[in-house]
Amino acid sequence: MKKVSIIYWSNGGNVEVLANSILEGAKAQGAEVNIKYVRDAKIEDVTEADAIAFGSPSMDNNRIEQLEMEPFISQFKLLPNKQKKIVLFGSYGWDDGKFMVDWVQRMKDYDFDVVDYIAVKESPSEDEILKSKQMGGVLAK
Ligand SMILES: Cc1cc2nc3c(=O)[nH]c(=O)nc-3n(C[C@H](O)[C@H](O)[C@H](O)COP(=O)(O)O)c2cc1C
Repeated sequence: MKKVSIIYWSNGGNVEVLANSILEGAKAQGAEVNIKYVRDAKIEDVTEADAIAFGSPSMDNNRIEQLEMEPFISQFKLLPNKQKKIVLFGSYGWDDGKFMVDWVQRMKDYDFDVVDYIAVKESPSEDEILKSKQMGGVLAK
C-alpha cells in the first residue's frame, strides 16, 4: 500500500476542494493517505511518504502562498528528494496559472519528479475535480 501525503494551504476553500478530490482519488486506488494543512505538516510527512501532492493558491504577486507554504517548500531545496513522485495543485485569480508553471519548474529543480499538476481559475469545475481525483489515483500507483 502506497503512503501518500497531501499538504496544502487554502483560505477561501478553492484549493481545499482540490485537496479533498485528490484524497478521494488516492483512497479509491487503495493508498494510505495523510492530508494536512501546511501549518500542521512536518518535513517527515514528505520524507516518509511514497508520493506527495502539494497545493497552494497564487498569492502575493503570482507566487505560492508566502507565509506558510513558501517556508515549508523552501526546506526541500537542499534535501535529497531523489525524484520522489509529486503532483502540484492550485488556484489563481488572474495570473492564468503562471504561478504554477514557476512552481513546477522549481520542484523539478529540487529533484522531485513532477508527474502532473493542475491550476484552476478560482473554484474548480466538475472536469477539474475529476482530473484531481485522477491525479490522486496516479499517486497511489
Ligand atoms: C490576498 C490575496 C492575494 C491574491 N493574490 C493573487 C495573485 O497574486 N495572483 C493571482 O492570480 N491570484 C491571486 N489571488 C486570487 C487567489 O489565488 C484565488 O482566489 C484562489 O482561488 C484562492 O484559493 P483559496 O480559495 O484556496 O484560498 C489572491 C487572493 C487573495 C485573497
